[in-house]
Amino acid sequence: MSIIKNASLKPYNTFGIEAKAQSYCDVTSIKTLKSVLKDYHQKPLFVLSGGSNMLLTKDIEALVLHINLKGIEVVSETENTVIVKAMAGENWHNFVLWCLERNYGGIENLSLIPGNIGTAPIQNIGAYGVELKDIFVSCEAINIANQSLKPFSKSDCNFGYRESVFKQNLKGQYIITSVNLELTKVNHQLHTDYGVIKNELESNGVENPTIQDISNAVIAIRQSKLPDPKEIGNSGSFFKNPIISAEEFQELEGNFPDVPSYKISEAAVKIPAGWLIEKAGFKGKRFKDYGVHNKQALVLVNYGNANGKEIFELAQLIQNTVKRLFNINIETEVNII
Ligand code: EPU
Repeated sequence: MSIIKNASLKPYNTFGIEAKAQSYCDVTSIKTLKSVLKDYHQKPLFVLSGGSNMLLTKDIEALVLHINLKGIEVVSETENTVIVKAMAGENWHNFVLWCLERNYGGIENLSLIPGNIGTAPIQNIGAYGVELKDIFVSCEAINIANQSLKPFSKSDCNFGYRESVFKQNLKGQYIITSVNLELTKVNHQLHTDYGVIKNELESNGVENPTIQDISNAVIAIRQSKLPDPKEIGNSGSFFKNPIISAEEFQELEGNFPDVPSYKISEAAVKIPAGWLIEKAGFKGKRFKDYGVHNKQALVLVNYGNANGKEIFELAQLIQNTVKRLFNINIETEVNII
């Protein structure tokens, strides 16, 4: 196990922000993870995975553990379904491609989401009508304090919209080491009801889509709206879509009849934060080396050498403006460090 002092974290966060780790350890085995936690669990620790959902606003005065555990295997299968175990450090999209190559279905709508397997359960990643919880069976996580491995069932994880127990009650207590997902081998349940997916399939002349067709459509849609972190630093959606009450929605719609919305229940409505931010005039706005993406206002971007504080201040300005104009609070989806 090698520990590097004063390491740059720029290569390890998709925003491409320069920040230093007091010390850094690349963790490639459970054995290393256990031994490093045994030595350091009472000292400040910071767990880093794909670095795709965080904004670094300062140096990290802690030992940064980069979870780089690799491996994908089939753990059991029936005639119709398969359970696949993937280690936390596997890249999410590479895993999706691995499944598509074997014609394992259920995960195709989640193509091209940045990040690693290990962080997928933490915020219950989702896109185009599918969330991780729909295919999730269980995960294994190591208890930081006593280094024991513990299985978590789906109900243990308490999944919600971009939420789980790992962001709530158990925050900072466990490190996810692997995830088990159940996928279909035949009779795939396709999710094509999202308008943009329907349109993309139609324009490709696809009538009876395969899971590969859906993945291709999702990839095309994401590439057309979301910046590639390898080219422009970003963390995907910076904010969550706010959920407001039916009464609040009535008032909002009265003032802004064109507001898009998704009904969640009789009492609650979800509003696309991207629309609120665009309406507030921020879409495509650039300040120095950072700004709001011109094709999706929910995404904040680093054009090169922005620092995390500048982006955080922009996020606060957006939140305050949206609050003033619409009386709606938008929460960050990205973890602010
Ligand atoms: N919209 C605008 N202007 C914008 C962006 C969006 O008016 O600049 C409005 C449009 O009316 C559009 C609606 O918002 O129809 C929804 O936009 P989109 O389909 O792009 O989805 P979203 O709600 O903005 C969510 C997820 C994305 C996910 C997409 C597709 C959250 C916080 N974000 O975005 O997830 O890819 O749906 O399912 O729930 C991520 O979490 O990093 C992420 C990219």
